[in-house]
Amino acid sequence: MNKTFEICVPCHFGIEAVLKKEIYDLGYEITRVDDGRVCFTGDAEAVVRANMCLRTGERVLMVVGRFFATTFEELFDGISDLPIEDYVTSDGRFWVTKATSVKSQLFATSSIQSIVKKAMVERMKKATGKPTFSETGEDFPFRIFLYKDEVLFTLDTTGASLHKRGYRTWTWSAPLSETLAAALIQLTPWHPDRILLDPFCGSGTFLIEAALMACHIAPGVSREFTAQNWGHIVDPTLWDEVRQELRAEEDRDIETHLYGYDISPEAIDIARKNAKNAGVDHLIHFQVRDVAELSHSKKYGFILTNPPYGERLSKDEDVAGLYATLGEAYGRLDSWSMYVITSFEKACEAIGKRPDKNRKIYNGMIKTYFYQFLGPKPPKRKKVTSDAMSKE
Ligand SMILES: C[S@@+](CC[C@H](N)C(=O)[O-])C[C@H]1O[C@@H](n2cnc3c(N)ncnc32)[C@H](O)[C@@H]1O
Repeated sequence: MNKTFEICVPCHFGIEAVLKKEIYDLGYEITRVDDGRVCFTGDAEAVVRANMCLRTGERVLMVVGRFFATTFEELFDGISDLPIEDYVTSDGRFWVTKATSVKSQLFATSSIQSIVKKAMVERMKKATGKPTFSETGEDFPFRIFLYKDEVLFTLDTTGASLHKRGYRTWTWSAPLSETLAAALIQLTPWHPDRILLDPFCGSGTFLIEAALMACHIAPGVSREFTAQNWGHIVDPTLWDEVRQELRAEEDRDIETHLYGYDISPEAIDIARKNAKNAGVDHLIHFQVRDVAELSHSKKYGFILTNPPYGERLSKDEDVAGLYATLGEAYGRLDSWSMYVITSFEKACEAIGKRPDKNRKIYNGMIKTYFYQFLGPKPPKRKKVTSDAMSKE
C-alpha cells in the first residue's frame, strides 16, 4: 500500500502550466508535461488528494505501463507483460473505456480496445489460474493513449470527470466547463479581496469557482470516485481522513466581491440555484442586467467573461455589436482589467482595444483565445510598522 505510482492528469489544451502549478502546490514532483496532460509521482494518498483537490484536471489516471507498438501483435504482447492482476481483483469488471491515437501506426480505436481487453484477459488467466472471469465485482476502467507509437496504458481512478463537482445541476446555454473556468481564474492576478465581475455569467461558473477558491473549498470534497472501492490499492480510510482534513480548512464566513450579470432572467435563476448547491450563494451578487448597463463605482476590478461565440448565436444577433458594447462598458470602468475567452475572430476589433496578452486555449474542440487587457495595479497598502504604531 505504500507503493509509489506514476500518475497522469489530463487537462484542456493550453492550461498545462496552471495544472502543473496546482500539482506542485499539493507537494508532488512533476515527472512529465505533454500537450493536454501533466504527470507526477505519488502514493495512494496522492491519488486521493489529486482527485479531491485539483481544480483544473479532468481525471486522475494511474500509469500501468508505457511501451512502443506499431502492430496489434506488439500491442497485445506489451499489455500481456503488464501486471494487470496488481490492479484488477479476480471478480473485477475490467475494460478499456477510451482509446485515443494520434500520429501512430495503430489508429483504429475500437480494434485497439478489443485487442487490449483480450490481452488483459490472457494476462489475468495466467496470473490467477482461472479460466473465466465473472466480472461481477468493482469497476476497473482503463484508458489507453497512443502518441507517435508510444503506448500509455492507464487505470482511471476518477469515474465521472472532475469537472463534475456536483453543484451544477442546472445548465444554461453553452456553459463553460468548471475545470476550464478554474484555470482561467488562475491565469489572472485576481485575489479574493479584489472585485471579479462576469457580465455574461450564464449559469455562474466563473463566480462559483472563484467563491470555492476564496473559501478554500476543495472541488471534489463532496463527490465520489471509482477508486474508493479499490481497498487493495488505496487504503479505504484515506478517503475519509483527507475529506475531514479538507473540510476543516474551509472558511465560508468571508467577504468577497463577486458579481454575475446576464440579460436572461432564466440564466440568473439557474446561476443562483447552482451557487446555492455549491454553498456559496451568500458570496455572489447575481443580477439581471444587459452588458450595455454595466457600471461599477469601485476601481481596480477584474472582468472575466465568456461572451456568446458567433457560431452559438442566431444569424440575426449582432455578435460584433455585442463585443463593441462590452468594449464601451469596459472603457467606462476606471482602472479595471478585462479577460475575455472567445472564439469570435473579430473580438478585439469589435471591442476596439488591442489586448496586452493573448493565449490559445481549446474549449473542448473549439479553438478559443483568452484575451487579456491589463489595467494598472492598485497602489500597495502601507505596512503598519511597530515604529509607526509607537508614535501614535
Ligand atoms: C456563452 S454564455 C456564458 C456561459 C457561462 N460562462 C457559463 O458557464 O454558464 C453567454 C451568455 O451571455 C448572455 N447574454 C447575451 N447577450 C447579453 C447581453 N446583451 N447582456 C448580458 N448578457 C448577455 C446569454 O444569456 C448567455 O448566458
